Amino acid sequence: MTEVRVAVLGASGWMGKVHTMAYQTFPHFLGTAGGTARVVALVQRSPLPPEELAARAPGARVLADWHEAVADPDIDLIDICLPDSLHYEVAKAALLAGKHVFCEKPLADTPEQTRELVQIARDKGVITRVGHGFPRNPVHDMARQIIEAGEIGTVTMFKGCQHVDMFGDPLVPFMWRADGAQAPTGIVGDTGSHVFSFMEFLVGRVASLVAETFVVTPRRPVVEGLGLGEAAALTGTERWAEVSNPDAAQVLCRFENGAHGMVDFSRVATGRKFMQGYEIYGTKGSLVYSYDEVNRLRFYTNEDRIGRRGYRAIDVGPEHPGYAAFLPLPNFALGYNETKIIEAAEVIGSIVSGQPKWPTFETGHHITQIVDACMESSRRRAWVDIPAA
Ligand SMILES: NC(=O)c1ccc[n+]([C@@H]2O[C@H](COP(=O)([O-])OP(=O)(O)OC[C@H]3O[C@@H](n4cnc5c(N)ncnc54)[C@H](O)[C@@H]3O)[C@@H](O)[C@H]2O)c1
Repeated sequence: MTEVRVAVLGASGWMGKVHTMAYQTFPHFLGTAGGTARVVALVQRSPLPPEELAARAPGARVLADWHEAVADPDIDLIDICLPDSLHYEVAKAALLAGKHVFCEKPLADTPEQTRELVQIARDKGVITRVGHGFPRNPVHDMARQIIEAGEIGTVTMFKGCQHVDMFGDPLVPFMWRADGAQAPTGIVGDTGSHVFSFMEFLVGRVASLVAETFVVTPRRPVVEGLGLGEAAALTGTERWAEVSNPDAAQVLCRFENGAHGMVDFSRVATGRKFMQGYEIYGTKGSLVYSYDEVNRLRFYTNEDRIGRRGYRAIDVGPEHPGYAAFLPLPNFALGYNETKIIEAAEVIGSIVSGQPKWPTFETGHHITQIVDACMESSRRRAWVDIPAA
C-alpha cells in the first residue's frame, strides 16, 4: 500500500481541520517517497454545513457517525480529533477493526485504558501514533542530537512549562475542556501531556513525582455556540457550570536516569497567549528553548574557553533535517502547522513502511502514567512511583 485512505473524526474542529490539511499538504513539501494519503471520510457532529466541510477534502464523504468510518473496509487509518473523553472508546473500536490509528493527545484517561490499547495494537500488528506534535519541530531533533552526543554531559535537571490564558478571563464560557466528565484530567492531560512529551523525547522516562493540581475559576458561564479562543463576553446568562477538572498544576519529578524535573502548566495564566519552554542542564552544558523563538535553541558548553562562555543561539535552518523541505533560508520559521504536516507525513510513512515512529501508543501510555500519577499525587498529597510499564 502506498496510498493510505484516511478518515478524520471530529473533522470540523480545530485539530480536524489541521489534520485534514496536513494529509493533503505534506507531499508538496516532503515528497511522496514515504507514501501518500487520501482523506476519504470526514466525520463530524457540528453545525458546519457538510458542503463547506467537504470542500476541505474534495471527494471525501461526510459522515455523522464515527462507527461508520471504523466499520468501512475501504478506510486504512482512523484519525481521532474528537474530544478527549471519546479517544479510548473510538481508538479501541478502530484497533479491533484492524485499522491503523492516529489519536490526538491525551491518548486516554487512565493507564489501564492505554495499556489495553497498546496490547490490542500489538495483537493486531497495526501502526499507532499519538498527537504529540510539538517535539517534531526539527529544532528539537537538534536538541536530542546534542544530548545524545554527550555535548551537555549527563543531564541533571529539566525545567519545563506550558501556560496559556485560554481560561484566564473568568467569563470565558464553559466548554468540554473544563468538564471533568468529558476531560477528567483537565489541564494535566491537555497541556501537561505536551510538557511530558518533551521530557520523554529529550530526557527519558519519569520514575516518580509529586504534584499539586488546582482549580482557579470554580464556575463559568454557559454560552452555546462559542468555541476555543472566542471572545469572553459579559453574557448576562443565568446558566453557570462548575469547572470540574484542574486549571493548573505544579510538578516535581525524578527520572529513571537520575535527573530531576520541575514542571508547571496552566490554562489560566492571564496574558500568556501561549508560553512553552524547557531548560535542560547537564554536567558539561545546557539547552534552553522557548516557543517565543520557535526555531531557536540556546546552547551553552563548558568547552568554550573561560571568558568567552555564554549561550549561543542556534537557528534551525536548511542544514537541519526536516527544515530544508519547507524553506531554503534559515530563520524563516517553521510553525505549528508545519510541525503537524511533518507529523502527518511520519504517520503515513510508518504505515507504508511498517516502521512505527515516536510517539506511538507506547509513548502515549507512558505519558498517561505520568498524568495519572499527577492526579493521584495531588489527591493523596504525596510522592507517587510510576510502574515500569
Ligand atoms: N496536539 C495538539 O497540539 C492539540 C491541540 C489542540 C487540541 N488537541 C486535541 O485534539 C482533540 C480535539 O481538540 P480540538 O481543539 O480540535 O476540539 P474541537 O472542539 O475544536 O473539535 C472537536 C470536534 O469533534 C466534534 N465531535 C464531538 N463529538 C463528536 C462525535 N461523537 N462524532 C463526531 N464528531 C464529534 C465536535 O463537533 C468538534 O467539531 C482533543 O483531544 C484535544 O486535546 C491537540
